[in-house]
Amino acid sequence: MPKLCVIPGDGIGQEVIPAAVRVLQTAVPHLQLTSASAGWQTFLDQGVSVPPETLHAIRNCGAALFGAVSSPSHKVEGYRSAILTMRQELDLYANVRPVRSLPGISPRPDVDQIVMRENSEGLYSGRERIVNGNQFSVNSGKVAVAERVISERASRRIAQKTLALMRQLGRRKLTIVHKANVLPLTDGLFRDTVRAVFAAEEQRSGEAKIEIEEILVDVAALKMVAEPQQFDVIVTTNLFGDILSDAAAHWGGGLGLAPSLNWGDGIALAEPVHGSAPDIAGKGLANPLAAILSGALLARFAWGLDEAATRIETAVSHILATGIDTKTPPVTPRVTEAVLSALS
Ligand code: NAI
Ligand code: MG
Repeated sequence: MPKLCVIPGDGIGQEVIPAAVRVLQTAVPHLQLTSASAGWQTFLDQGVSVPPETLHAIRNCGAALFGAVSSPSHKVEGYRSAILTMRQELDLYANVRPVRSLPGISPRPDVDQIVMRENSEGLYSGRERIVNGNQFSVNSGKVAVAERVISERASRRIAQKTLALMRQLGRRKLTIVHKANVLPLTDGLFRDTVRAVFAAEEQRSGEAKIEIEEILVDVAALKMVAEPQQFDVIVTTNLFGDILSDAAAHWGGGLGLAPSLNWGDGIALAEPVHGSAPDIAGKGLANPLAAILSGALLARFAWGLDEAATRIETAVSHILATGIDTKTPPVTPRVTEAVLSALS
């Protein structure tokens, strides 16, 4: 029986996650629920953004649906980002960000792509510090340095996950996005490792060939704007993936529609790409579809319930095609009820 740990988090997470749970309960019978807490409010209440009980509950379920957290934009003593903590502690090394054109809401009809973002290192390794400027020939003012870590192991793991996902979904074209012209050691290692994983697979299996192209991240950004329909699956490092996938989300109808999955070995945490949206929290304006589509990703990838995932995604397409109002309050209950009735 599939088990789900529910973590609404802060702000509109409290609104969209209950909606997504109702949809999952309808599409996935016998779902066993546990709830847990994480985020800024949890930090204020308990002095820690992700309590050990929460990590335990996620491990125990193997799957979690998480809303969003609010994070201070300045350094707060003792605070560590909840989502980064969960990604690290649970070794959720792949971030899957699909973007698909949806009727009535997407600015173009022909986008169907997945960004596979390396989720464990790169510029998110947390190795930031203030240094003595002399070593950088800067002799006045502060100097701050962040280390961007690229390892062969992490590059291999994201490549293997990407390969498995492409086989599962029958995807045929991979784009490796990097900046190896300026960063030949780090991004060269990433690029070469990904290529080696795919080359080894090609030798071993008789399955359909996957076409591989590579492009520099700045060119990829232009292409994401000008010809997004050209992309099928993109694999890239942490920060490039974060930025490119948010840009890609525009083609799917914006942040209110963009789902994601943090994925490790035998463990997955789905979350909408958006944050806690304090500007609209409590106003009935939060679109629950990103959270609902995140639930579909759990069904497909964590539980192997492809049919349930497709049912949810079809219901979402259906209500959008009817021209449902996703702007005037109360958005959350209107959209949730519509998805539930499209499912039944
Ligand atoms: P945000 O994604 O929360 O909001 C950006 C804009 O999109 C806002 O105008 C918001 O009203 C709108 N929006 C977002 N989700 C929506 C939805 N479901 N329906 C309708 N409109 C929606 O990003 P922002 O404002 O930069 O950050 C707010 C807080 O969220 C910050 O504390 C930030 O650190 C945090 N955050 C957390 C993330 C996470 O938990 N993974 C990701 C991004 C931001
Ligand atoms: Mg982002």
